[in-house]
Amino acid sequence: MSKNQRQTPRTPATKFASLQKKIQQAKTKTNVDKKREEMSETSPSRQLDQMITGYWTSQTIYAAAKFGIADLLKDGSRSVEQLAEASSTNADALYRVLRALASIGIFAESRPKEFSLTPLAEPLRSDVEGSKRALALMSGDEQFQAWSEIVYSVQTGNTAFEKVFDKPIFDYLSENPEKARIFDAAMTGIHGRETGDILNAYDFSGIEVLADLGGGNGSNITSILQQHPTMKGVLFDLPHVVERAQEQIEAAGVSARCQLIGGNFFESVPQGADAYLMRHIIHDWDDEKSLAILRNCHAAMPADGRLLVVESVIPPGNQPFAGKFLDLVMLLIPGGKERTAAEYRTLFNEAGFELARIVPTNTELSIVEGVKQ
Ligand SMILES: C[S@@+](CC[C@H](N)C(=O)[O-])C[C@H]1O[C@@H](n2cnc3c(N)ncnc32)[C@H](O)[C@@H]1O
Repeated sequence: MSKNQRQTPRTPATKFASLQKKIQQAKTKTNVDKKREEMSETSPSRQLDQMITGYWTSQTIYAAAKFGIADLLKDGSRSVEQLAEASSTNADALYRVLRALASIGIFAESRPKEFSLTPLAEPLRSDVEGSKRALALMSGDEQFQAWSEIVYSVQTGNTAFEKVFDKPIFDYLSENPEKARIFDAAMTGIHGRETGDILNAYDFSGIEVLADLGGGNGSNITSILQQHPTMKGVLFDLPHVVERAQEQIEAAGVSARCQLIGGNFFESVPQGADAYLMRHIIHDWDDEKSLAILRNCHAAMPADGRLLVVESVIPPGNQPFAGKFLDLVMLLIPGGKERTAAEYRTLFNEAGFELARIVPTNTELSIVEGVKQ
């Protein structure tokens, strides 16, 4: 003990004070334990906190995607000052965004105020296969605004998107080419990996001409045609979408076998295919509109043709299933719904199809196969 440190004399008063201190410490410990328990990542209260504030994460990712930060880092780490200058952002605010994202593994602060890519940040680059940048842009912008009106949709059953933007989403996209480009790329970002699973699960051999209705930028039909070298394809979508898809079809080397047709599936769909595939199309629409599309397929199809509706078929019960949330996206954005097997059977019957089978894939998607009744 140093000469400055003095032993306190043990009088009854100091004994009492020491006892009180111990009681206080014990109480504090119990509170600390309680707090620790409450704050443990797996406690129900903490899990709920994370669910409630989930948009903090998604909107921060949106900001990074908007300013193309991952693209700016593709050649190596850069200081926050350089990033701010290149992205026309405020350096301090950008630093706080990147520090928050780095705390969850998206980007890393490799040196003080210098950031680099991480495996979770790589897919935010626009130039990588399976890029998620367009998905982050679409989700964080119009879709986020629509989600802010969920109360309206739940009260009325109407689509929140139309309340916010005064028009249905596909009309909005027709009038906003840049947003439409982002939407097409977002579809590939979210659904692109599904094509491989569909090809693994379903036997496409024997199909001579496959029509992909609402096929977007053509990433699905091109992969199927690449796997089946004698098959011919038809990419059908709204005229402005098909126009943009031309380049991708050529780049995939299947333009000689793939016809591009612009049109409106509520009016008619192209004749002459022996199978009609629609991935994430019927879920965009209510029953009445879905029936109109299915009836047009029925009219265009030969007697032995096949209808291939690729969707998340909602299973019964409480188990986790992303399609149950995708169903809410459908409620809020295009005004459609995800359906159960029974609901697909009814819809098919009303359009003159028999539901032949439901082929599951490795993902949540299934191929709901219909044949003419
Ligand atoms: C949810 S996206 C699905 C895209 C693609 N099938 C996929 O799985 O990634 C819906 C598609 O339907 C197209 N679409 C919307 N209304 C249409 C219409 N009336 N006629 C034809 N296509 C339409 C959109 O342009 C868009 O490409």
